[in-house]
Amino acid sequence: MIGNFHQIRFDRLHLTLEDWAGQFGPIYRFRFGPHLVVVLSDRDEIQRLLADRPDGFRRPRYLEAAASEMRLKGVFAAEGEDWRRQRRIVIDALNRARIEDFFPMLANTVGRLQRRWERATDAGERVDLCRDLMLFTVDVTTQLAFGVDINTLESPGPTIQRHLDKVFPVLHRRLNTPFPYWRFIRLPADRALDRALDALEREFGAMVQAARERLEREPARRQSPQDFLEAIIIEMETEGSRVTNEEIFANVGNLLLAGEDTTAYTIAWTVHLLTGNPDWFDRCRREVDALTASNSPGMVNFEQTKQMPVVDAVSSESMRLKPVAPLHMLEALNDTWILGYRIPKGTTIFMLLRHLATRDEHFVNGDRFDPERWLLRQEARLGPHDHGAFVPFGGGPRFCPGRNLAMLEIRTVLGMLCSNFDVLPVNRSRVREQIAFTMFPTNLFVRMRRRKRS
Ligand code: HEM
Repeated sequence: MIGNFHQIRFDRLHLTLEDWAGQFGPIYRFRFGPHLVVVLSDRDEIQRLLADRPDGFRRPRYLEAAASEMRLKGVFAAEGEDWRRQRRIVIDALNRARIEDFFPMLANTVGRLQRRWERATDAGERVDLCRDLMLFTVDVTTQLAFGVDINTLESPGPTIQRHLDKVFPVLHRRLNTPFPYWRFIRLPADRALDRALDALEREFGAMVQAARERLEREPARRQSPQDFLEAIIIEMETEGSRVTNEEIFANVGNLLLAGEDTTAYTIAWTVHLLTGNPDWFDRCRREVDALTASNSPGMVNFEQTKQMPVVDAVSSESMRLKPVAPLHMLEALNDTWILGYRIPKGTTIFMLLRHLATRDEHFVNGDRFDPERWLLRQEARLGPHDHGAFVPFGGGPRFCPGRNLAMLEIRTVLGMLCSNFDVLPVNRSRVREQIAFTMFPTNLFVRMRRRKRS
């Protein structure tokens, strides 16, 4: 009845599965209530499965069902033709050229984050890194994708985050509960989620209304929509369109959720690793100082964000060791074979992306924080360095469309941080990994000091 259910702590699911992969190898199965789950950590097979979408593999059906019930069936949970149509609009909205034009607004938001940290520093307060970075990432995503500056970083009262925060923990629990109890009884957390979703719908409704008004005021925008909302509204108005209001709201939610925790936690994990490796913090600082000598204090410009190999090496190493998506779920659409085992159609497959990227056969001294590995030329490397085993943004046709935006956010925030602040850990040894759809650090606080420039 319950299979291996009793052996798993769901807030540490990835750690248990990685531990079992250490014992049982690159493919094993476990029983999850009545369901059989195959767990895979083989490089070539993971690459093949990621690439064979949407026809050979899909996101699990129960993810689509859970997202639908949470009014969030947008591009992340969609499949087939619906997915192709929504993906096209999302890709256009997040393309490289748009992000370059958007850079001044991003820099302005980084400036707000800097002022927030200066205030905390001057007041002698410790900084809750994840909270502050999530305010930052939500502000960035809403500006870029929805054309609205909600400025949660400088809002004194409660912000949209208090509603967004409810979503992933409940989603994670529902995905990992064999019996869908919430269809029969609502626990307090389910009721809190319903209230949060109602509130989010109101917030999203206001953003959609603002985009409609922009299109009416400036009809020229219809020829070249400036953001995701404008594009999807125009698409909705074309004859024969299948876009619905529900789909627009679901995608606003998808983009906010996909862009919030992921980027915020990646930056937070990177800062955590830097506090344990001050020599790398200094190297990042020297790189940013050399770039920004003639700029306003420590702020990189768009061209300079392409010239930050040390910061990039540190963030790649952070995503290798502390990826926000250490676990990736798929479902087989046909009977298939994986590593010599017959996998029936409908089987859920968990792929262990972090386990893959930390094995010595793919990266020399795989468990060690060593950003140098990303800076060395191939012939100078002392062992394996296999890019194909490093997939923090997924792969194949459903590769993360927010990667360029995320990398830009990571570079500008780390640039601002290294050149303006000294960062001291608070109880560093108490920081733990926890997973609630994304993998995040608990108990991560730091103290910052304004940097003294000689
Ligand atoms: C460091 C930050 C980020 C990481 C590590 C990350 C990681 C991922 C991963 C692993 C996937 C699944 C890919 C797959 O199925 O192969 C994904 C999908 C997605 N991400 Fe990201 N992401 C990040 C930031 C962002 C940002 C900033 C946005 C947009 C604002 C975004 C939007 C999306 C969307 C819309 C999808 C669904 C794509 C689809 O199903 O076609 N992500 N991301």
